[in-house]
Amino acid sequence: MILLLLLFSLVVPTTEDGSASVSLEGHRVDVTWKADYEQQTVLIHYEAAALNEAKWWLFGFSDHGEFNVSDHCLFEVETKQLWDGFVNSRYEMSRDRQQDCYLESVTNTSFTFRRKFVTCDPKDYAIEIGTNQLIIACSSAHTTNFSSPAITAQIAYGLLIVAPADEAIPREPDQIMIHVHADKAKVPADVTTYWCVIQKLPAAVLKRKHHVTWLWSNITKGNEHLVHHMMVFHCDSGEQQEFTGNCNDPKKPKQAKACSKVIGAISMGEGPVLYPSEVGLPIGGAGYNPYVMVEIHYNNPPRLAGQIDSSGFDIVVTPHLRPHDAGIMEIGVIYGDANSIPPHQPAFEMTGYCTADCTEKFPEEGINIFYSQMHGHLWFKKLWNSLYRNGVKILEFNRDNHYSPHWQHILKMEPMLNVRRGDVMATTCVADTRKSSNVILGGYGINDEMCISYLYYYPATDIEMCKSAVSNETLHRFFAHKGVKDGSLNIAQKYNAVQWDNENVRDLTELFATAPLNQHCYRLDGSTFEGHPTNWSRIEHPHLTYGAYDKNRAGEECQALNS
Ligand SMILES: *[C@@H]1O[C@H](CO)[C@@H](O)[C@H](O)[C@H]1NC(C)=O
Ligand SMILES: *[C@@H]1O[C@H](CO)[C@@H](O)[C@H](O)[C@H]1NC(C)=O
Ligand SMILES: *[C@@H]1O[C@H](CO)[C@@H](O)[C@H](O)[C@H]1NC(C)=O
Ligand SMILES: *[C@@H]1O[C@H](CO)[C@@H](O)[C@H](O)[C@H]1NC(C)=O
Ligand SMILES: *[C@@H]1O[C@H](CO)[C@@H](O)[C@H](O)[C@H]1NC(C)=O
Ligand SMILES: *[C@@H]1O[C@H](CO)[C@@H](O)[C@H](O)[C@H]1NC(C)=O
Repeated sequence: MILLLLLFSLVVPTTEDGSASVSLEGHRVDVTWKADYEQQTVLIHYEAAALNEAKWWLFGFSDHGEFNVSDHCLFEVETKQLWDGFVNSRYEMSRDRQQDCYLESVTNTSFTFRRKFVTCDPKDYAIEIGTNQLIIACSSAHTTNFSSPAITAQIAYGLLIVAPADEAIPREPDQIMIHVHADKAKVPADVTTYWCVIQKLPAAVLKRKHHVTWLWSNITKGNEHLVHHMMVFHCDSGEQQEFTGNCNDPKKPKQAKACSKVIGAISMGEGPVLYPSEVGLPIGGAGYNPYVMVEIHYNNPPRLAGQIDSSGFDIVVTPHLRPHDAGIMEIGVIYGDANSIPPHQPAFEMTGYCTADCTEKFPEEGINIFYSQMHGHLWFKKLWNSLYRNGVKILEFNRDNHYSPHWQHILKMEPMLNVRRGDVMATTCVADTRKSSNVILGGYGINDEMCISYLYYYPATDIEMCKSAVSNETLHRFFAHKGVKDGSLNIAQKYNAVQWDNENVRDLTELFATAPLNQHCYRLDGSTFEGHPTNWSRIEHPHLTYGAYDKNRAGEECQALNS
């Protein structure tokens, strides 16, 4: 329980270039890391004024943020030696038979060392693309018991294998920086608060169409722990008015419901989004509803009172239109309870499709994806997208095997990914519900689940959303087959009425893998494509095959802790 709390309360924001500043028992430590692709290593640097006051310092790797069954490099202050070690399931620390941490330099306040991405030692973690959950710890005693109170540890998130991107603010003539920020918001002493800022765009932007070229969540210095994520929406319709306050405030204008078209979404620790030079996201101009809304999710587990925040989005727009309009598309599983997850499952997976029926509506040259971002809540641990052409899986993109809702990285696609008409995109999410004795329903709440990927792409299409779930009709037949026949029950109640033993879980898995799909292929205004030859609520499950290739590390030959 304590460890779980630690994970949720002491999450440390890190930055894109690989650094984290943490306070361990009042000792400030700055950790930076840098990937070396040629050598296939990472260089890790610890800087702490109080370096010599601790007995040891540790840099660890953990699959999903647990301290037990984790890997580390440990620096012993007295001997100035570095050890490659392991924490077992009983929280006992030991040294590995094979040593893979290489000390490079030591000063009175710092040490620097190197670690290979992949060591092929089954007690070492193999550093992967996507999120890597890192442990930063120190100890005031010579202990090998990771539960000892002498040890202070925090989880940080890092991306070790992603080419560093230069995402500096563009400097173009006539560009305008729009700030949509909270105005000294008094953050309530509640764990979760959503704060809304509805603001009119500057007059110049409304006069003519502009392009968004850069977008960044500008977090008030010192509040990095408090701002969990932020979204900025366009208010598509309605007579809007300016507002700033709690999103649940009854005084918030009702028409703000129309503020739902995503312009940007940025999570803790994230860098800016820089549009490619030939692309911009349209904003402003005649007939454009003049209002945007920023929604800030404050995460305040210790329920501290009196915190003041002025975070928000800074958005650079240019009147010099670029050749292509960008769009943001949501793929994955439809929000809702049709695809839900049985309790006590170590790895239950589901996939949402963007089927050929919908991608047939893409422009002739297809779309080019330049950023993608995965989104799930507390139960999904692994998320990735796949692309199929002619039914054959040709690649995966944005695989994250160590996903955390606290670190929803926006991955720059280099090179850009071209998706053609008739291709199928799939978003797969794997849930661990061993700690839940209830069905985890699909839905909006933090305890419900979502399996979503946002794609930033060009040229803009009519399609805002391309998601699927199992068809309702098939699902109701499945429940009837399981003896849940009461027609007055809704889907959630039916899920809860089933006894989720192994056989029923297996049957649900089969249903999700093969049943017809309810496909949302929605336009920007939420309308469907009428006159389509097939029925959107009953699209045939895509027939997909797999090529005889494997781009992943061969788990059996080159073992790792995360195998
Ligand atoms: C880590 O410890 C927790 C609680 O102490 C336990 O539930 C969990 O199974 C352990 N994890 C592993 C991988 O042993
Ligand atoms: C490091 O600390 C030792 C002992 O406190 C001291 O003698 C030495 O001068 C220090 N070295 C540097 C470079 O500060
Ligand atoms: C490790 O430390 C914890 C907390 O002090 C204690 O409960 C546990 O018994 C210790 N384990 C061992 C093997 O000493
Ligand atoms: C971030 O916000 C502060 C005020 O909240 C502002 O002074 C600063 O210029 C902003 N930074 C950028 C890069 O826009
Ligand atoms: C589509 O299929 C659903 C379920 O089979 C059915 O209820 C609905 O009437 C169909 N719609 C059309 C337009 O055929
Ligand atoms: C399927 O059921 C959900 C309720 O879980 C409902 O919101 C949705 O409209 C239904 N979809 C169709 C196409 O019938």
